[in-house]
Amino acid sequence: KIVNGFDLMKYAQDHHYMLPAFNTTNLEMTYAIAKGLNKAKLPGYIQISSNNLRLSDPEAIVYLTKKALADNDVPIGLHLDHGKSYEDVKACVNAGFTSIMIDASHLPFEENIEEVKRAVEYCHFYNVPVEAELGCLQGKEEDIVNEADAKTDPDMVADFVAQTGCDLLAVAVGNVHGLDIEPKVDLPLLEQISKISPVPLVMHGGSGIPFDIIQKAREFNLLKVNYGSDLRKAFVSTFGRAYEANHNACSVIELSIEAVENVSEKAAELVTIINS
Ligand code: G3H
Ligand code: ZN
Repeated sequence: KIVNGFDLMKYAQDHHYMLPAFNTTNLEMTYAIAKGLNKAKLPGYIQISSNNLRLSDPEAIVYLTKKALADNDVPIGLHLDHGKSYEDVKACVNAGFTSIMIDASHLPFEENIEEVKRAVEYCHFYNVPVEAELGCLQGKEEDIVNEADAKTDPDMVADFVAQTGCDLLAVAVGNVHGLDIEPKVDLPLLEQISKISPVPLVMHGGSGIPFDIIQKAREFNLLKVNYGSDLRKAFVSTFGRAYEANHNACSVIELSIEAVENVSEKAAELVTIINS
């Protein structure tokens, strides 16, 4: 079931769960992620980035996700990932998303605060929690490349959370987006931030982070870990392998069924490992 984002956070905290947030890109990925979470019987998020909204209408995503989760009785959140604008945030909340990220981390501190504040005001009116980011991750998020690498400054955390009213804080502590750069998670920095932050923390760029690091990070108030590339790779490689083996392999139906299976297995494996 899709549940309210605040309820999901509370459920996870009460039961000591780590919540994976799996990025979907299309119908098949949405079904695959739902299937993986259903199989594992563990809570988590299905999320779609603002960037992907040009391909997928928010209302269609809500409808499909509800369908895909019809038989699931574990709480699942539907989250806007890397919300680019106030307009995207509003469109997703209005469509029925149960959790939102507004990402203004590329802006100067005060402007980041203003953007997040505006989103928080809107989302909280509809009882939807807001994730915001402080610091900048290196790497590639779908087709957006970021060369800047600015770790979260612990001295800014208290002020940022207090002024914005955000409910989850995404941190840059050596984690990276995509698979091209090796993540080097600075656990002491994460620990330092966790002691200051009044809200739970989020780790972007989950793909490629060793599981023991994620498990240790649980002690430092890490509640949500984002996984994008690992699932996209499971999806795309299914088609790539078939095409490499036979350039006439173009049975999209058969390959999509196989890709859904591969992505759902990956999602089930990830949610299980980070909660073991
Ligand atoms: O917001 C999405 C994630 O941070 C995905 O990162 O592709 O490195 O797993 P990843
Ligand atoms: Zn991210």
